[in-house]
Amino acid sequence: MSNITGRLRDYLQSSHLRLIERASYVVSGRPEKIYLVGGAVRDVLLGITPINLDIVVVHPREEFINYLAEGIDGEVVSRSQFGTFKVVVNSDEIDIATSRREEYARPGALPVVEETSIEEDLGRRDFRVNSMAVSLGQDSWGELLDPHGGEGDLRQKLLKVLHEDSFIDDPTRILRGIRYSERLNFRIDQETYRLLKRDMVYLQDVSGDRIRNELERAMAEPFAWDVLFRGEQEGVLSAIHPGLRFGRIPNPLNIQEQQIVGDNDVVLAALIYFSNDAQMVEVCTRLKIDTRWSRVAREVRSIKSEFGRLGRPDLSRSELFNLLCDLNPDVVHGCAITIQDNAVKSNLWLYLNELRCIRPTIDGDYLLKLGVPEGPQVGELLDRLLHDRLDGLLSSRADEEALVANELKLCRD
Ligand code: CTP
Repeated sequence: MSNITGRLRDYLQSSHLRLIERASYVVSGRPEKIYLVGGAVRDVLLGITPINLDIVVVHPREEFINYLAEGIDGEVVSRSQFGTFKVVVNSDEIDIATSRREEYARPGALPVVEETSIEEDLGRRDFRVNSMAVSLGQDSWGELLDPHGGEGDLRQKLLKVLHEDSFIDDPTRILRGIRYSERLNFRIDQETYRLLKRDMVYLQDVSGDRIRNELERAMAEPFAWDVLFRGEQEGVLSAIHPGLRFGRIPNPLNIQEQQIVGDNDVVLAALIYFSNDAQMVEVCTRLKIDTRWSRVAREVRSIKSEFGRLGRPDLSRSELFNLLCDLNPDVVHGCAITIQDNAVKSNLWLYLNELRCIRPTIDGDYLLKLGVPEGPQVGELLDRLLHDRLDGLLSSRADEEALVANELKLCRD
């Protein structure tokens, strides 16, 4: 059995390392055993610093999780019916679970959970590369448990399920597989790929919340565009709902586009962009969308409905600004990347890169000091200043002052 203490030291954030050392100390001399599991083990073996830690406790007595949380100066902020706990320690959030076996009554159903050994706990997981654990016991600190050949798969850059019903047990693993394959640049093993295709149909049975949660995780990936496009190509998106689509995005994205990659609303806007209105309504119902999704969907629809005007060659800069200024810039970004029409596309970029940042130098306070009475006239003058700035009719503070003086004179006359 190999010991990966050095790798933990090299690749864990120092706060994470301190945290697991503390946890180890808290458990010493007690009957419970604790392990670091899942993605964190995979990542340190790959030489990547993990973002989250998952800890498994074997055979905890009642209230042990609270005792452990207190011992590491953390607080249990949530617990699930399946024996999983979220613990916050300073600004770090860690997941602590009791080792468990899961029985699925039918595909996509929530599991019935029973306590078990660490080996059995690892045996119920999604991919072999995620089915390794590292002991955090004082006498076995850093020992790697790899009963399913995860380390070998890491070396071969391979994603492989543990058994042939893995995707039937939990069809969201199909989305996870695509996500890991793109993120880690791993190949999906041939037999696993066959099962993935075979079992895609079960995605229909998974609740809207769980699917949406997985899509959100895909959208939060640095390579979100590739993950979603791969999902489209493999038929995973249409297996969730035939109206869920994702078109080809220019690849590689240009510098301007890359700056925003990783922002959730940008990718979400692109995902929504590819469905027509009727499909979108159905997708929203299927995924039980929350307020954020409906807001983005509404704004994407508004951009699509203004397509004719947004592409007009005689559209002034202030008109362009007015069409977009009330929208979330991330949504405009998502559409700017996605839209094929060159005239609309370049107008969206013009708005994002230039017009959005233009402000007159004169503000409301200045107008009040000049004697403009508080009320709508202040807003009207500020709007006029902004629009003339946007259209290039004003280029300096002096121009703005002259315009204001002229307007006030006209009012007095
Ligand atoms: N897991 C699983 N099946 C799922 C979800 C999770 O078997 N449908 C297991 C995997 O062993 C996974 C672990 O639970 O490694 C923790 O899941 P999660 O926190 O979602 O993923 P990470 O492994 O931390 O990977 P990452 O956050 O990097 O995506």
